[in-house]
Amino acid sequence: MSTQQDNIFQAIIAHAKEYGFVFPSSEIYDGLSAVYDYGPYGSELKKNIRDYWWKSMTQLHENIVGIDAAIFMHPTTWKASGHVDNFSDPMIDNKDSKKRYRVDHLIEAYADTLEKDKADALIAEMEALLAKEDFVALKDLIVINNIKCSISGTCNWTDIRQFNLMFKTEFGAVASDNPDDNIVYLRPETAQGIFVNFLNVQKTARMKIPFGIAQTGKAFRNEIVARQFIFRMREFEQMEMQFFVRPGTEGEWYKFWKEERLKWHLSLGIDANKYRYHDHVKLAHYAKEACDIEFEFPIGFKEVEGIHSRSDFDLSQHQLYSKKKQQYFDADIDPATGKPYGNYIPYVIETSIGLDRMFLLILSNAYEEEVIPKEDGTNDSRTVLHLPAKLAPVKLAILPLTKKDGLPELARTLMDECKNSFKCFYEEKDAIGKRYRRQDAIGTPFCVTIDHQTKEDNTVTIRYRDSMKQERIPMDKIKALVLSEVM
Ligand code: GAP
Repeated sequence: MSTQQDNIFQAIIAHAKEYGFVFPSSEIYDGLSAVYDYGPYGSELKKNIRDYWWKSMTQLHENIVGIDAAIFMHPTTWKASGHVDNFSDPMIDNKDSKKRYRVDHLIEAYADTLEKDKADALIAEMEALLAKEDFVALKDLIVINNIKCSISGTCNWTDIRQFNLMFKTEFGAVASDNPDDNIVYLRPETAQGIFVNFLNVQKTARMKIPFGIAQTGKAFRNEIVARQFIFRMREFEQMEMQFFVRPGTEGEWYKFWKEERLKWHLSLGIDANKYRYHDHVKLAHYAKEACDIEFEFPIGFKEVEGIHSRSDFDLSQHQLYSKKKQQYFDADIDPATGKPYGNYIPYVIETSIGLDRMFLLILSNAYEEEVIPKEDGTNDSRTVLHLPAKLAPVKLAILPLTKKDGLPELARTLMDECKNSFKCFYEEKDAIGKRYRRQDAIGTPFCVTIDHQTKEDNTVTIRYRDSMKQERIPMDKIKALVLSEVM
């Protein structure tokens, strides 16, 4: 990452804290590494992103329904899913600083300092070795490139080992002779809550294949190198959807969801050039085909969402471990045989996006330190969040010009008319310019000023955040105007 990129990233982190979007967790105790809290505007923005995803999945797709499964699951779930044995990352320790690194992060961070061609070649070599799990050659790659620990500055590395990322805790208060009996895991992905409920949902909602089950919720991973603000956290939120399909059709559905999910991102008005696909070389233990949707964050192009063709791996594993059939009866006629397709374990296409990562995407895409030329030749400046109006924490700020002359009362009538339909903010304090700047900083798309003319002709001044243009319109047109932009 260049110094300039780093400065922008640091400015976004500072802005997020100063304006009540994101705080370090338990900050009065110096925080907890890679855990964050969302403040008044952050929690609104996060909720709006979640709602936008939820609506697009469960309301706009008639064949997708939602669930809300528990975070705790029977421990056998994680044995069946492969997470107990396979959910680990190759790690390497620096013998001098004792600092532990995820091997791919260590190499990627070094690649960021190289010219593009060299960086691409290094990443390609790393991915090929990761895919083969050739840890000896991977260590050689680190040593040959003289990749150093950022703390000790040395290249004195241990061998590479695997490290499981799941958090464990104990369940219930009953002591057992075998301490393992009480162990439960904090779920590392929401997906398994969907798989174990596959038949419950299919039967109760009377779903016919192809259909999807969507869920949002917390996930936990003991990330070793948890860094880069809310990009990689130990407690985070996922928005996942598992789409169950007839075996043999997974290729076309994988393609469909790969395109559909990128369309969702672009529907927020974000520049398409900031997105790219990255097809996986090293596949997760369950995956048949997989890609990431990557976004150009201030820290470079990084994954925001994964699309995975998971075959029938998860349902087959749950059938095996639970000894309960996870089959679906497909009554549709197979043209090849003229008979129903019959019983089978469906294949699955998964779309999985991190809510916090999407939040960071929206925030960093929206952030601008804008220079505004003035008529006298000097410059003014403002920090503005160009948030999509649909996602903005506050949609409309209602600002009486003064605290007297009946203006607050008029402003309150507009507030009462609008606040049931969308989030409004009311403020009388400070000069109007200062109040506009504060709304720019939290990304409010519309400000309305009520002044003395309002008393005479019921018109108000509406100010648009991005252009800063102002126009006079009848007060009774405001609600419809805002609604047309934010719904
Ligand atoms: N069920 C599949 C699954 O969990 P993943 O690629 O490990 O796949 C999906 O995670 C998404 O979850 C990622 O694309 C990312 O947006 C988000 N994510 C994963 N680990 C994260 C972390 N430590 N902090 C924040 N978001 C994370």
